[in-house]
Amino acid sequence: MSEEIKINLSEKDMPKFWYNIAADLPTPLPPPLHPGTHNPIGPDDLAPLFPMDLIMQEVSQERDIEIPEPVREIYKQWRPSPLFRAKRLEKFLDTPAKIYYKYEGVSPAGSHKPNTAIPQAFYNKQAGVKRIVTETGAGQWGSSLSFAGSVFGLDISVFMVKVSFDQKPYRKALMESYGASCVASPSNLTEVGKMILKDNPENSGSLGIAISEAVEVAAKNSDTKYALGSVLNHVLLHQTIVGIESLKQMEIAGDDPDILVGCTGGGSNFAGLVFPFLGKQLQGGKKRKIVAIEPASCPSLTKGKYAYDFGDTGKLTPLVRMHTLGSSFMPPAVHAGGLRYHGMAPLISHIKELGLIDAKAYNQIEVFKAGIEFAKCEGILPAPEANHAVKGAIDEALLCKKEGVEKTILFNLCGHGHFDMQAYINYFSGNLKEMSYSEDELAMALSGLPSVSQ
Ligand SMILES: Cc1ncc(COP(=O)(O)O)c(C=O)c1O
Repeated sequence: MSEEIKINLSEKDMPKFWYNIAADLPTPLPPPLHPGTHNPIGPDDLAPLFPMDLIMQEVSQERDIEIPEPVREIYKQWRPSPLFRAKRLEKFLDTPAKIYYKYEGVSPAGSHKPNTAIPQAFYNKQAGVKRIVTETGAGQWGSSLSFAGSVFGLDISVFMVKVSFDQKPYRKALMESYGASCVASPSNLTEVGKMILKDNPENSGSLGIAISEAVEVAAKNSDTKYALGSVLNHVLLHQTIVGIESLKQMEIAGDDPDILVGCTGGGSNFAGLVFPFLGKQLQGGKKRKIVAIEPASCPSLTKGKYAYDFGDTGKLTPLVRMHTLGSSFMPPAVHAGGLRYHGMAPLISHIKELGLIDAKAYNQIEVFKAGIEFAKCEGILPAPEANHAVKGAIDEALLCKKEGVEKTILFNLCGHGHFDMQAYINYFSGNLKEMSYSEDELAMALSGLPSVSQ
């Protein structure tokens, strides 16, 4: 067994293929439906929003999908990312468990998001697109697509959820440094935004609203396409490079994880780590405990309904079957802005229904406490979203201690928190408060789910 702290792969060992879990699912994913007719949609229905190469990945059943050479060349800027053994954290917890983490904070934006921003910009550029419009919650995705736009010479416009826009001015400056534009959402630039602001000028925004604004702009402009930083099959596909590298790195470490942990907003970093391991299991390999961690203030997997719903608040997107809190649900303004989404990726929702993964919800103060314990031991200060995974891994390690078992835990440290210091300032000054949603509002949002006979 390796005694190394940091298990690195060389650039020549970087994966050449993404892994598509659709090829190994025991039952297929329910199809997306047209929002008007409720009939299954085909690739042509998505063509106004996405280039055809991405649409074909969205519906592909092929197991291994080649990563284009130019994308691999740019990935080399930060990939393969390191895998760490958290020896000092293990000692601090006094646990017999071995804890590993895959660190995605080494990317230019500071998280896993460039893993999909680069291929999305690449395929758009190939299709002759001039401009991409998107939403961002934490600011990580907006920064990543802005970086990708600068690499491929594309104009990028970002609608940033207002609460995060106010909390993180440096994210906007980073996007502008890459040549992109960034406005707070809801905005007066779209019909959806105007309608929402008319209703409540103080609306703090949500990912659902920002998606509506971006989709509206893309649908109205023929030279503009839309890009999403999570949820969709092709986004999760691009993130599987994280898990494929981890499989190799765990082998080099001479260990095999028993437990996998990741945080879930729309599900992409979790899927990125977990799907390649789960794929091995579906092909007859080892069964592992797999835990998705979400915020208690926006608990789509643990409290949501598995139903067809819109991906956005303005009801412009196709209907997808997912765990949802209802597309009109407004999550409280917690600091993990990337986890404030009313739904969950259809692929994650499907495997949860199949009993292949577990889910847990944590409150914001306990996850910041875990993140700070982690930083004291390992040096890296995690993003507020990643703190959820840290807390999940720590709890699994403490369970091993209680039960006296030596299990191996691997979690995705999906980003650093260097642009999230206001949240940490609030934590240290005692101003970080627990925030819960109103049960009445949740019930109201769920009662508005579209009635679909499928
Ligand atoms: C650092 C970080 N982690 C996690 C997430 C959640 O997204 P996903 O569930 O798609 O990984 C985000 C989203 O913005 C993020 O910025």
